[in-house]
Amino acid sequence: MKTATKRKIRSPATFEGEYRSALSEYAQLGGEAPLGHAYELGRRAITEKKSLIELAALHHQALHGMLADAQGASRRQELLTVAAEFLAEILSPYEMAHRGVQDAIAALRQLNETLEEEIKRIAFAVHDEAGQLLVAVHLALADVARELPERQKAQVGRIEVLLNQVERQLRRYSHELRPTVLDDLGWIPAIRFLAEGVSKRAHLTIRIKTTIAGRLPSPIETALYRLVQEALTNAAKHSKASQVSVRIGRKNRVLCCSIEDDGVGFDVRAVQSDGKRRGLGLIGMQERLNAIGGTLSIDSEPGRGTKILIQLPTEVSNASSHRAR
Ligand SMILES: Nc1ncnc2c1ncn2[C@@H]1O[C@H](COP(=O)(O)OP(=O)(O)OP(=O)(O)O)[C@@H](O)[C@H]1O
Ligand SMILES: [Mg+2]
Repeated sequence: MKTATKRKIRSPATFEGEYRSALSEYAQLGGEAPLGHAYELGRRAITEKKSLIELAALHHQALHGMLADAQGASRRQELLTVAAEFLAEILSPYEMAHRGVQDAIAALRQLNETLEEEIKRIAFAVHDEAGQLLVAVHLALADVARELPERQKAQVGRIEVLLNQVERQLRRYSHELRPTVLDDLGWIPAIRFLAEGVSKRAHLTIRIKTTIAGRLPSPIETALYRLVQEALTNAAKHSKASQVSVRIGRKNRVLCCSIEDDGVGFDVRAVQSDGKRRGLGLIGMQERLNAIGGTLSIDSEPGRGTKILIQLPTEVSNASSHRAR
């Protein structure tokens, strides 16, 4: 068997040829070296983005050819056994990659949960602590005003009006940051609440159309809220649009949510391949969707507006009136 390690494999031009040749070498000589070769082929298959279905078909064809040439039932049985060993070796890099992805997704989910907790904490801090400070400023101003002549009292009054505006705005921001309506009524009412605020601040008309009802598991609702929040923030910040429409529905057991604006649009490829880009919004959207098994597509071109499409298989997002907390 030692000679197996020294034996040179003919250099087949294609991956398919190399696969057949390595399998037949293992079937003839056995040993570790051809198995090592199988493992390397598995790694190469991943790099070349070969799907498991392609690999299975390739294996089937190679084995079929070998079985056709084999003499006798016992040799054929032997070939089936070695081919299974070879296939297991080819697939082991896929298995490792799959586990790596599962681990990364679990870490991402954990990260999102931590992030949500932090957002909640900041939202409450803005609401309660900033609110308390503003009350103290109001009281201090009232004290100062008491000592002042009438004309200056009116000036303090104007400051108080501004302070009230700041307070209202802070409250609004803290509610949008982590709306209680998201927990109480779900992501669609929460998005309506958010859209109302963005619409007023950015002078945008935002229309929301939905054909679905019912609740989704809490992490999915939170993710969907954050995704729409980023898309609306981008529309308000970059698009110069006058209209945004949010459509939520279900198509072939897939939950679809699109956010479309009639603004300036952008070169998606250029933004995504720009190594120096600073923005985190689109990357964050993609990562949130990875964590819940959804997909993101961005359709935009300069001068043609932007459409963001979020899709989530209903196996994952299965609408239900029961909350999974
Ligand atoms: N609706 C949109 N209309 C026009 N341009 C957009 C739109 N959405 C995104 N872009 C472009 O894509 C870029 C990347 O967006 P992204 O959300 O990743 O980052 P950002 O909004 O610039 O920063 P951040 O989200 O971190 O605050 C933006 O800077 C902008 O040029
Ligand atoms: Mg952004």
